[in-house]
Amino acid sequence: MLRIVAHGFGAPADVLVCEPAPRVEPEPSGVVVRMRASAINPSDLVSVSGAYSFRIPLPFVPGFEGVGVIDAIDAEVSGLRMGQRVLPLGSAGGWQSFKALPAEWCIPVPDDLSDEQAATAYVNPLTARLILRTLAPSPGMLVAVNAANSAIGRILLRLLDAMNIRSLAIVRSKQAMALLADEPICNVILAGEPLPPLDGGFDAIGGDDGAAMAQAIRSGGALMHYGLLSGRPLPPGLRSVKPFWLRNWVHAASRAELRAAMAEVFDDIRSGLAATTIEACYPLSAYRVALAHNAQASRCGKILFKPQL
Ligand SMILES: NC(=O)c1ccc[n+]([C@@H]2O[C@H](COP(=O)([O-])OP(=O)(O)OC[C@H]3O[C@@H](n4cnc5c(N)ncnc54)[C@H](OP(=O)(O)O)[C@@H]3O)[C@@H](O)[C@H]2O)c1
Repeated sequence: MLRIVAHGFGAPADVLVCEPAPRVEPEPSGVVVRMRASAINPSDLVSVSGAYSFRIPLPFVPGFEGVGVIDAIDAEVSGLRMGQRVLPLGSAGGWQSFKALPAEWCIPVPDDLSDEQAATAYVNPLTARLILRTLAPSPGMLVAVNAANSAIGRILLRLLDAMNIRSLAIVRSKQAMALLADEPICNVILAGEPLPPLDGGFDAIGGDDGAAMAQAIRSGGALMHYGLLSGRPLPPGLRSVKPFWLRNWVHAASRAELRAAMAEVFDDIRSGLAATTIEACYPLSAYRVALAHNAQASRCGKILFKPQL
């Protein structure tokens, strides 16, 4: 039983350690989930950096998404059973062998989804559906997606294509451009190239790149701003910017709304629209190698922890 723990905030390589984990028991109305696979996402690393130190007490185990099976269950819990495969959502803590959480935050996983697809079903596929719903583009419109080689960028490109919306993919290197060859894209350009007038945009970068996209949006369109990969916020005063943070949506939604949204996402994964490519899986003990692999430019898939490896 292992866990990857941040005892302080800072660079992941400096502050994370892998240590033996004590056995945990379910809280009242809670369960313990034996983790089978957990993703490494930018939001996990941002949390380790200390960006959310006002609401994350130390020490903490990162990992906002993953899949596991129920290993212990409080007697008061109904609607879940021992051995059931679930997504344990609503909190960090995926990067460990066992995660304890309130039963109400467990989303049952359909049998036909692999552990890999289930472990990556939440953060990016759900966000993509929600920000697309908010932007609500119409067929024939032109919508740009930056950091297009990211897991969520690829999902957005496929969802746009399925809705007959023209997409402009923006990447930061020719290598990333080549990696997008299999995705349905109307056009692809390098960051910094001039942008045509856009009906909408999805910005995962912020800073100058996000600002350039915001300035290219036609009157009446909107920029969905959902990431800060540049580490810099959008400059103030841009019109048409709609920020989106999954955590805010999830904690404001009812559990029934969350389950309904995840059912839609599971369908998107089955159809391939929201399927995520997995580049490599590592045991928790190899976390340094896993994080270094995750930091490589032009990855073509997600890195997962699998505690049982
Ligand atoms: N707001 C929310 O609720 C929410 C939810 C989901 C995701 N997100 C955000 O969406 C973004 C992508 O997440 P992901 O899981 O899809 O990422 P990912 O698959 O791990 O890939 C990271 C991507 O970021 C690109 N990248 C890294 N630094 C960059 C920079 N400075 N400028 C441009 N591109 C850069 C990489 O480009 P290369 O391919 O060129 O290496 C790669 O495509 C993150 O910012 C994440 O926080 C936000």
